[in-house]
Amino acid sequence: MAGVAMPRPYEVELESLGGKVRVEFLSQRYVDLIRSFNAGENGEEQTKFARSKAWDSHKRCLSTVFVVLYENSLVSYFTLSPFIVSLKIRKDMPEKRRELVEDLKARLVELLGMDIEYSSVPTILLGQFGLQREYRGRGIGGEILAKVVKPYAVLHAAQIGGVGLSLHAKKEVAKRFYLNPKKNPLAGGFQVVSKGGTYELFYPFVAEAMGVRKALIEQFGGK
Ligand SMILES: CC(C)(COP(=O)(O)OP(=O)(O)OC[C@H]1O[C@@H](n2cnc3c(N)ncnc32)[C@H](O)[C@@H]1OP(=O)(O)O)[C@@H](O)C(=O)NCCC(=O)NCCS
Repeated sequence: MAGVAMPRPYEVELESLGGKVRVEFLSQRYVDLIRSFNAGENGEEQTKFARSKAWDSHKRCLSTVFVVLYENSLVSYFTLSPFIVSLKIRKDMPEKRRELVEDLKARLVELLGMDIEYSSVPTILLGQFGLQREYRGRGIGGEILAKVVKPYAVLHAAQIGGVGLSLHAKKEVAKRFYLNPKKNPLAGGFQVVSKGGTYELFYPFVAEAMGVRKALIEQFGGK
């Protein structure tokens, strides 16, 4: 598989932080850092995962963990893994849920420029995402989402198949962060797939994934 690279450690400037962060695939040298991660209040799930599960599940390919570092401190971590969004319309589906799925399907058909005969489509799941507590509340999360999580998800999608980013968030976090354009540059692109105490959100990135896929196809010979 010459030429097909995993996302490399890379650096990106975050205006909200006033400096460059480095993004790395979790490895032995960051185990102590991830085990001391603390997202603070309302981030207990992310703290628990980082401390007790991240390294074990990363080694076993149950998820893929990336760390975001600023100088020698851990700013954030996130996990990516394959996922699917169901496009199945069942007869017993509540009207509202059916409408959301129909909207999503229509949007995907338009973006893909072809009909979808599948009952589900592959996506990349942002399973865990959290900021260390001292970095929260400064707009850093939105910048990491747009400048780090999305490009990494696009790269994975182009390699294994995937047409967008999926995530589950508590209703309050979905409304105040993921769907809020003041907090997150991707907000306008998110589609709500299901509502409730937890929201399932989907951010299609068909054009970007197709762009990287085209480059891969060319690498393998032929345009
Ligand atoms: C959610 C998170 C990634 C956002 O990054 P951030 O840089 O702190 O984002 P911002 O400062 O731009 O704004 C976050 C907004 O979401 C709110 N928010 C963040 N976490 C929240 C939570 N767990 N519950 C409710 N609201 C939350 C903040 O209060 C803020 O809204 P406000 O300004 O109206 O108060 C970060 O706050 C975090 O790590 N939170 C804890 C873990 C978490 O909830 N992760 C998301 C799981 S899907």
